[in-house]
Amino acid sequence: MKRRQLLLTLLGVPVVGSLIYGAIAKSKNQYEPVLAKSPASNPPENNPTFTAPTEEPLVRFAAIADNGFGSPDQMAVAKSMWETYQQKPYPFVLMAGDNIYSYGEISLAKAYFEEPYAPLLKENVKFYAVLGNHDIIKTNNGLDQINYPLFNMSDRYYSFTKGNTAEATVEFFAIDTNENAPWLEQLAWLDRQLANSTAPWKIVFGHHPLYSSGRHGSNPKLAAKLAPIFAKYKVSLYLCGHDHGYERFVPINGTTYIVNGGGGAPLYSFGKSPQTAFVSSQFSFMTFDVYQDKIITKAIATDGKVFDRAIITKTI
Ligand SMILES: [Fe+2]
Repeated sequence: MKRRQLLLTLLGVPVVGSLIYGAIAKSKNQYEPVLAKSPASNPPENNPTFTAPTEEPLVRFAAIADNGFGSPDQMAVAKSMWETYQQKPYPFVLMAGDNIYSYGEISLAKAYFEEPYAPLLKENVKFYAVLGNHDIIKTNNGLDQINYPLFNMSDRYYSFTKGNTAEATVEFFAIDTNENAPWLEQLAWLDRQLANSTAPWKIVFGHHPLYSSGRHGSNPKLAAKLAPIFAKYKVSLYLCGHDHGYERFVPINGTTYIVNGGGGAPLYSFGKSPQTAFVSSQFSFMTFDVYQDKIITKAIATDGKVFDRAIITKTI
């Protein structure tokens, strides 16, 4: 009998003590850190619902975050992105912040962005960036990055559509989640844009997570600002980084939240929450295949292996 259980039993509550001990053990277990490269729950190969569609997706794209570190790990992810591209090209990449460490200096863009992704840039793959916390330090509060053409940022927050049908298949909303963002204007803009959007799929990306089991963790202040808007307008996916590792949540009020921060900066340990669908802290990036009725997400490691897949369906 373990010490805690023995103590509770000695206190005269053997049955209840046992139950309490079970609950403590369970909750402790739920928040146990998941170390880098440790296998996570629900491995995709055990999930019978994943059968790759044979038809081409309407839109395909990739995503990274916390990548601009200039490290061999960033290069390894970039190499894996290029190898994946050669098999299945994707025309654009969402880059969810901390684009250039440590202070966002645009003078480092060549070494930390243009060189690692040179093969993709040569193929005219477009990167759409948002500002991470590191990107606003020595950059005139992010302006230098906004004005850098290869980041394709029309402003601190902006939207764009992709897809060939008359009604754009996906509308993307890039937001500035830093504390000093122009929140009043931005939230009014996001509300308006989402209300006016006719796109069947709406995807938001920003640097900071609303929900995370990584070192920084969940951000209730940010969630209070954004989660009601996401729910109101049926945003299918919120992609972010900031915590350096990978965590996908079960849909929360219709939105799938994914932390995708394994782009090259040193990894963090992650725990997991009851809403965690899959967590694994490793260097990685993601691809997304968008169909009429579903989005297939893949998290891909530096060896090219897909370590998590999910199917996002439309929120009714
Ligand atoms: Fe960050």
